[in-house]
Amino acid sequence: MSRPLLIAIDGPAGAGKGTLARRLADYYHLPHLDTGLTYRAVAHMLIAKGWPLGDAPHAVEAARRVDLTALDRTVLSAHAVGEAASKVAVIPEVRRILVEKQRAFAARPDGAVLDGRDIGTVVCPEARVKLYVTASAAVRARRRLAEIEANDGSGDFATILADIERRDERDMGRADSPLRPAEDAHLLDTSEMDIEAAFQAARAIVEEVLAGGNEA
Ligand code: DC
Repeated sequence: MSRPLLIAIDGPAGAGKGTLARRLADYYHLPHLDTGLTYRAVAHMLIAKGWPLGDAPHAVEAARRVDLTALDRTVLSAHAVGEAASKVAVIPEVRRILVEKQRAFAARPDGAVLDGRDIGTVVCPEARVKLYVTASAAVRARRRLAEIEANDGSGDFATILADIERRDERDMGRADSPLRPAEDAHLLDTSEMDIEAAFQAARAIVEEVLAGGNEA
């Protein structure tokens, strides 16, 4: 039997890893899990109940209740939920519970695509392909502003940039499973790429690995 095609994609907020993960999953006919949604689900439950984000016992209870088959992207994609998710994600017991669920998802005979912050380093260190997707903070802020404006909203570049930098600091600076590239990750800087170019670059890396050239 051939080795499962497990693809781990990590990177900071707004680097485009979600879009890339979906495109790769589609292309290789693999199930996809956006692990950010699992942390968002915990944050959303705490907010809905009016519990403080730093309340570890309640956060742990919420993490236990997270159901991977019932993650509602529409509700969870709100900016405030992402901010809150980054705060609950520093609680080690919350991470332990969610990582266990994420690993169960990843354990498929054919493989899977998971994206997040610690997939290549902690959740699936055995992944066959590891991508670390980045883009400069300014580019990520510009993309986010364009996205907001495309949805008829308005935003301020400096505020969005400050938000992104604060989130990077929290995600990269936490003690448990900080965001960082795995030693064997392929780096993909999408600052100068559109979605199509980024997808083609990622696909080329996967194809190289499948051809036997470059196992992660
Ligand atoms: O990718 P996202 O914006 O949906 O993630 C929201 C937050 O969840 C992120 O700021 C940090 C946390 N997270 C994490 O700690 N580990 C992951 N594997 C995925 C997300």
